[in-house]
Amino acid sequence: MSLNLEAKKVLLRKIPHGLFICGIRDGDEINGFTASWVTQGSFDPPLVVMGVRSDGSSHEIIQRTRIFSLNVLRADQKDLAAVFFKPQKGLGGRFDSTKYSFGEMGLPILDECIGAIECEIVGDVKKGDHTVIVAEVKSAKLIKDTDPLILSSTGWNYGG
Ligand SMILES: Cc1cc2nc3c(=O)[nH]c(=O)nc-3n(C[C@H](O)[C@H](O)[C@H](O)COP(=O)(O)O)c2cc1C
Repeated sequence: MSLNLEAKKVLLRKIPHGLFICGIRDGDEINGFTASWVTQGSFDPPLVVMGVRSDGSSHEIIQRTRIFSLNVLRADQKDLAAVFFKPQKGLGGRFDSTKYSFGEMGLPILDECIGAIECEIVGDVKKGDHTVIVAEVKSAKLIKDTDPLILSSTGWNYGG
């Protein structure tokens, strides 16, 4: 059976995605990156699933520390999402452009966003160019309940 690559691309890009800033911490160092491959995986326990690219600087850290935050962006925060996927001067440099504090698990949480969850990894699948991570939601902080930033509204693509 041969895979129709064009059809696969069109169809996979129809999967709706939100946009999030994933925050990680390694001792005194923090980092963050824009993530769209995020979904809920279980009600009880509350699980989320996220794809993390294997060649990113966060991949090794998240695999070792086993925890991360997910900051849910507001519909008007497209510029911030762009900051967090562009190259940065040094690890954590993207946080220079926004205020943040630390959550209950010590992970970076943006002062301005809809809110953030902190998660602990319970399993992963290392295959291909992304690692699929399954993680339990351990803390949740709601800042302002408003419309989220949706990938389809940005004109960007990540997937296919
Ligand atoms: C729209 C968009 C969505 C993205 N979604 C993800 C994602 O779900 N997972 C991921 O690992 N990278 C994703 N990326 C890529 C990372 O944001 C990007 O590679 C970043 O530079 C990684 O940072 P790091 O090397 O500091 O970890 C996305 C990029 C864009 C433009």
